[in-house]
Amino acid sequence: MQPLALCRQTLNIALPKGRLGDKVYSLLANIGYDCPEFSQNSRKLILENEQNGVRYFLVKPSDVAIYVERGAADVGVVGKDVLIEFEPDVYELLDLQIGKCRVAVAGPEVYEKSAGASLRIATKYPNIARKYYASRHRGIEVIKLNGSIELAPLVGLSDLIVDIVETGGTLRDNNLRVLHEIMDISARLIANKSSYKFKGAEIDRMADKLKGALEK
Ligand code: PRP
Repeated sequence: MQPLALCRQTLNIALPKGRLGDKVYSLLANIGYDCPEFSQNSRKLILENEQNGVRYFLVKPSDVAIYVERGAADVGVVGKDVLIEFEPDVYELLDLQIGKCRVAVAGPEVYEKSAGASLRIATKYPNIARKYYASRHRGIEVIKLNGSIELAPLVGLSDLIVDIVETGGTLRDNNLRVLHEIMDISARLIANKSSYKFKGAEIDRMADKLKGALEK
């Protein structure tokens, strides 16, 4: 019989690029899934450490769930906002308690619009925005943007925005403020459903180690 280390199947991990990805990588590196290439400042998109049985794919945060849902990656880390907005068919295994922020309605310091008038809402989250305003019986027109959402009300493209607020710095620097909080969010470990059948032991091992590290 082969020693356990040799039987281990490689886990393909979709890692969000950027500030969340750096935090997630530190968490994973600390529990034994490090990959020296990560710190080498290269533009490589696949980083592998055969010894640790991991292969990282560096992807845009909003694309993580697509890689995992379609099985290109076995597991990934994604914001709860993305799970609520796109409802991908994946297992949500663990709240990683990092990347904590809020989805909120924000707008100019001084803002007036008659209650009956339809609101123009700029957002990366059309479904979350529609559901929120439907629950308040308010008609809206969604303007779907992909970034720099805060610019929209400043230049008259929208009345308000529905967006992520983390430090609040972007709102402050653009003279905007939170008007309503919609939900708190944080990063989640997700898994592909077939991968979980075939690599369940490896995936559970990773999830358990992460849970242990979070409880410390
Ligand atoms: C997100 C979000 C806000 C900003 C909030 O944008 O859409 O613009 O972060 O963070 P803060 O409260 O800490 O200022 P991101 O940085 O992902 O860039 P984007 O505008 O390209 O989406």
